[in-house]
Amino acid sequence: MELFDMLRKDHENVKKLFGQFDAMKDEPEKKKKELEKLYGEIRKELQMHMEGEEKFFYPAVRNAEQTHEDVLESIEEHHVVKLLLRELDRIQVSEKWVAKLSVMKENVLHHISEEEEELFEKAQEILGDRAKEIGRQISSMKH
Ligand SMILES: [Fe+2]
Ligand SMILES: [Fe+2]
Repeated sequence: MELFDMLRKDHENVKKLFGQFDAMKDEPEKKKKELEKLYGEIRKELQMHMEGEEKFFYPAVRNAEQTHEDVLESIEEHHVVKLLLRELDRIQVSEKWVAKLSVMKENVLHHISEEEEELFEKAQEILGDRAKEIGRQISSMKH
């Protein structure tokens, strides 16, 4: 699959999982097991996606003038997500956990729209045909 289609597909998948979270988040005690399972999926998806972007996509565009700042911000946004994941790992499903995951959701959605509306378009122009190779590297990392 083409690099940007693949990254967008991952984004859609994460949004869908957050949609499931929204449907359950008002009853954390009753839905504890399901929320734990869902969190495991969200965590796995996010980690895999961030790793692919950080290892193969961001380095390819971080030195270009048009995308340099976007990439630096993206790296920091990933960092915040990782910090929140580490905190979420340590606490039980509860109202506080739901609040923390909600904040992470907002961060992730903001990050996704910045990538899709700003970074990807510029990166597509910079990378041209090189995008194919990066796409291949990311999919072989995933498998
Ligand atoms: Fe990202
Ligand atoms: Fe992304």
